[in-house]
Amino acid sequence: MIYLDHNATTPLDDRVLEAMLPFLKTFYGNPSSLYRHGRVASSAIATAREQLAALVGVQSGQIIFTSGGTEANNLALATLAPKTGLAVSAIEHPSIIEPALYLKSLGHELSLLNVDASGLITQEAIDDVIALKPDLVSMMLANNETGVVQNIADYASQLRAHGIRIHTDAVQALGKIPVDFNRLGAHLMSLSSHKIYGPKGCGALVFDKSVELKPILRGGGQEQGLRSGTENVAAIVGFGKAAELAKNELAERHVQLLKLRVFLEHGLSAVSGLTIFAGQVERLPNTVQMGIDERDGEMLLMQLDQKSIAVSSGSACASGIREPSPVLVAMGVDPVQAKTAIRISLGVSNTEAEIVEFIKQLKFLIG
Ligand SMILES: Cc1ncc(COP(=O)(O)O)c(C=O)c1O
Repeated sequence: MIYLDHNATTPLDDRVLEAMLPFLKTFYGNPSSLYRHGRVASSAIATAREQLAALVGVQSGQIIFTSGGTEANNLALATLAPKTGLAVSAIEHPSIIEPALYLKSLGHELSLLNVDASGLITQEAIDDVIALKPDLVSMMLANNETGVVQNIADYASQLRAHGIRIHTDAVQALGKIPVDFNRLGAHLMSLSSHKIYGPKGCGALVFDKSVELKPILRGGGQEQGLRSGTENVAAIVGFGKAAELAKNELAERHVQLLKLRVFLEHGLSAVSGLTIFAGQVERLPNTVQMGIDERDGEMLLMQLDQKSIAVSSGSACASGIREPSPVLVAMGVDPVQAKTAIRISLGVSNTEAEIVEFIKQLKFLIG
């Protein structure tokens, strides 16, 4: 299979698997137990916390391990005081949009930050949000569909000057571009392991010590009392190892992915009626969201699947009706054109030969 869907998930790096295995079998102790078996597990979690902290430039005490990016996003929004205001960008992942809508139903004021035609949050949206002065603003660092990278550092410095707290979902950015928590100027940041060649079901919320986190899960008091539940030791160890590798190999991976993306886009430029969405702005080095005139994206996805090529479509399924990608619609793309979208997201093991095969099959399918 030619796997071109690394923004959905990445394969586990062999070195990560190797780091995890002892904690699935040999060192199975509960990290809260005081005897040696427990202490080994607890110390492995401490190492993983340091590895992740080093990747994003924070102290290890600023990291809460969660079950993934979704939980980290929900935990970030749970910091809101009752009935305060919340603003989120219009292109957020459902794991921000859905809890935000739920909070709205509980009486919080919810506003949306609009994006322009290239998928960037507008200065006007920032000005509007400053006037509204919500308690928290959530803006993703890089979009999962288009790969568009926002200038979070700039927005955050403007919002901070007005006492507004910022959360950024950096799930897609991590491991692909530098992610430095302090340089971004956010108060809270969500991360996920399975997007960086780590295991699924593990993530983290990074927090500024000035923010009072409120737990969603209460119980045994793990993770500084902010995320109770016996830790998923092997997954956390894997996330730590994946973070260490991402830190060491970031520059190399960036060059490799960008080279491959340029190669892909060059090949795509020969396909008639093809549009690359947000093609003119800074994007993740691995992501291309494209559409071919009058070609349904989901249909193309299924046809490519029959050729053993895995890509993703941008459309979401709501109550059995296929909706165009809300991200593209927020960018002002015509809903009919938005339904043509497919996303290609490259990974470190992809090759030029795979891209050549993909383009060959794509041309064959569209005739
Ligand atoms: C931008 C973004 N945020 C959050 C998530 C959710 O992360 P997880 O799958 O770890 O819950 C994803 C997953 O696709 C994502 O792309």
